Amino acid sequence: MTESTDSTVLEPPEVSARAQPRSLYVETYGCQMNKADSELIVGLLAREGYRVTDRVDRADVILVNTCAIRENAEQRVIGRMSELSRFKTANPGLILGLCGCMSQHLGDRIIDKAPYIDLVAGPDSYRRLPAMLRTLSTEDEPALDLTWDRAEHYLDIDPVREAGVNGWITIMRGCDKMCTFCIVPFVRGRERSTPHGEVIRQIEHLAAEGYREVTLLGQTVNKYRDGGVDFADLLSRAAEIDGIERIRFTSPHPAHFPDRLIEVMAASPKICPHTHLPLQSGASTTLSRMRRDYTPESFLDVVRRLRENIPRIALTTDIIVGFCGETEEEFEATCEMMRAVRFDSAFMFKYSPRPGTASHRRLADDVPEEVKARRLTDIIDMQKSISDARNQAYRGRTVQVLVEGRSRRDADKLFGKTDTFKTVVFPAQGEIVSNAVVPVRVNGSTPFTLFGDVVAA
Ligand code: 5AD
Repeated sequence: MTESTDSTVLEPPEVSARAQPRSLYVETYGCQMNKADSELIVGLLAREGYRVTDRVDRADVILVNTCAIRENAEQRVIGRMSELSRFKTANPGLILGLCGCMSQHLGDRIIDKAPYIDLVAGPDSYRRLPAMLRTLSTEDEPALDLTWDRAEHYLDIDPVREAGVNGWITIMRGCDKMCTFCIVPFVRGRERSTPHGEVIRQIEHLAAEGYREVTLLGQTVNKYRDGGVDFADLLSRAAEIDGIERIRFTSPHPAHFPDRLIEVMAASPKICPHTHLPLQSGASTTLSRMRRDYTPESFLDVVRRLRENIPRIALTTDIIVGFCGETEEEFEATCEMMRAVRFDSAFMFKYSPRPGTASHRRLADDVPEEVKARRLTDIIDMQKSISDARNQAYRGRTVQVLVEGRSRRDADKLFGKTDTFKTVVFPAQGEIVSNAVVPVRVNGSTPFTLFGDVVAA
């Protein structure tokens, strides 16, 4: 969320702004969950009288909401914090804060590394941000809060969302899966589901605000459970809400796809035919070292059931290469699996050991960097040609596009998404505005984008 939803930019703060900070700039790194958390932070501080600015040089408070998933994500943020600290020269009252997963991961060590940071708050501490900011206005010591709170759902706080077509709703926080490579359980704590009544209330609220699409968020979103209400129940209740036309969710875990969930997905045209299904590896041995709770066979079975029941479904994934001890055969098994499934697209990563995780403690990061790099290039190339072929299959078809806005590359063009999560770019025409659903006939494609023209409905 680097852009403001608020058009009112406040006047530059006076030098003594620390006594009465009002203007807030939030910058977000990482996943959709972090974006949703930033909206929550803005919601919380808006109640306290803060106003969002998109001018970082005019902010009284800069909060950077961070990601700890891979080491390079952390390095980037540390570089950025140092860059942002330069605004303190012109505005000595400026408060610079680090929020989110990196805060929880690095704890107070970050203050030693980067003494210009005034505030450090973990994902369960946002409710105390106003109090921390107040303390900072009278004290010089950095404010730190990394408390875990299993009961924290941020229920009574309405997120302030970026104007757009899609609203995020966090339906679960934390993760209990303990995949050996993953830092998430250590920075986001134990898994807990938001009460279903609150989820429904938030979806209704979004519909009333004019949103046509919602995305339900959770680290293992399909493990959602609130008493007798499981994820399939929640989806079918969500699909009954008028005004919302597209329902997405991310990220499900491949080990939690009962037939009933697939039936609910297939039965409602509002539930988008797209599933992000993180594979990580195609080798059973690697999957078990990763503690992923599924085998290549059971993963393929989920793919088969999804495709049989929802023939148009698009599947995307995450892959890690060079995990501890990954042999050439194991890597080949991943390639084989990617060729077998033919995902629509994939996020692909080199394994990055994260201090605190089981793989960092117990397994050697023994795949040489050049081997990791070569494997990554190999799968990126392979996936690119698969994505290319998949997108080419859209040529000649008419797709329904939910318009998001003007193309960044060409202001005469609009862009939006299909229900299968493909980005479509097409020439702007007449009165078409963001948030409209328009039929577009696809006449061109790359591995990443579809191109076309609006046709009569
Ligand atoms: N190294 C590399 N990639 C990782 N991911 C999670 N942890 C690591 C790690 N230590 C990837 C996984 C996950 C995605 C969000 O990030 O593929 O699905």
